[in-house]
Amino acid sequence: MSDTNPRLFDVDWATFKPWKVAPVRHRISDHPLLQLPPLIELSSRLAKHGRIRTHSNDAYAGTAFNHAPMLYPNQRSPEETLANIESAKAWMSLLNVQTDEIYRGLVDEVLDDLKLGIDRFDPGMTYRGGWIFVTSPNTVTPFHMDKEHNFIMQIKGNKRLLVWEKDDLEVLSEEARDLFHASHSRDLVTWREEARARAHVFELKPGMGAYMPSTAPHLVENGDNTSVTVSFTYYTDATRRDSRLHSMHQRLRGWGLSPSPVGARPFLDSLLDSLAVGTSHLQHLADRTRGREPLLDSVRYAHALVS
Ligand SMILES: [Fe+2]
Repeated sequence: MSDTNPRLFDVDWATFKPWKVAPVRHRISDHPLLQLPPLIELSSRLAKHGRIRTHSNDAYAGTAFNHAPMLYPNQRSPEETLANIESAKAWMSLLNVQTDEIYRGLVDEVLDDLKLGIDRFDPGMTYRGGWIFVTSPNTVTPFHMDKEHNFIMQIKGNKRLLVWEKDDLEVLSEEARDLFHASHSRDLVTWREEARARAHVFELKPGMGAYMPSTAPHLVENGDNTSVTVSFTYYTDATRRDSRLHSMHQRLRGWGLSPSPVGARPFLDSLLDSLAVGTSHLQHLADRTRGREPLLDSVRYAHALVS
């Protein structure tokens, strides 16, 4: 096997495209850190920093993703929930596991391996993150999108994953992405049942997974079993540029303009991106002058901003 092929994953690199959804196979289900006892210990460490997201199984596909924990609270502690996950009627995500000294090693082990394949198509991997989802039977991760590229892998139990392409503007509008990149608001992310017909549907079992590009909307539905799923995420040169452009387009919308979708007008995009890069350099300089270190997205690990 060549040293440019990941060992832990099977991806069809001949057809892989960084902005297209793709199936993945993996060999990490038996990893010692992904078994329930160490995950309970991890939940205890992360809870001290507020790095747990949880809600009950009352959340559904159309629940506003950002507000699900508040709308449908899970009253049990993380440790109690995980120890009784079969009956807890709960959805739980261990957030930003790269902030944990032990699990940072797992994030690097996985992403160093994937990077061997990814770098040829999509260089500049930064902002590495890890997310572990432990869920009771019949729970749902509501329809939403994230900023990072994402390799999502099934570790235990079965799950149905629905993913839509980033460029499917019928399912999620350009305006929704512009707003999301500019402010992290998912207020324009709205679910319609008709969207199911346009999804890539993955019936995930342990050893299976998928690649979801940045802002590819997705929805996850547990079967009648408990489930452990992991996501390993990152930015690249291309995702950082895409995010800058959506943010710039949102600014144009604020001035009453209606910009074409990102990518539709490459020359204008280049101009806007140069402006965005220049502006952010000036902003960082101003931050440092005031004694504040800017939060850069070009760092190796994701800042634990999401909770
Ligand atoms: Fe997600």
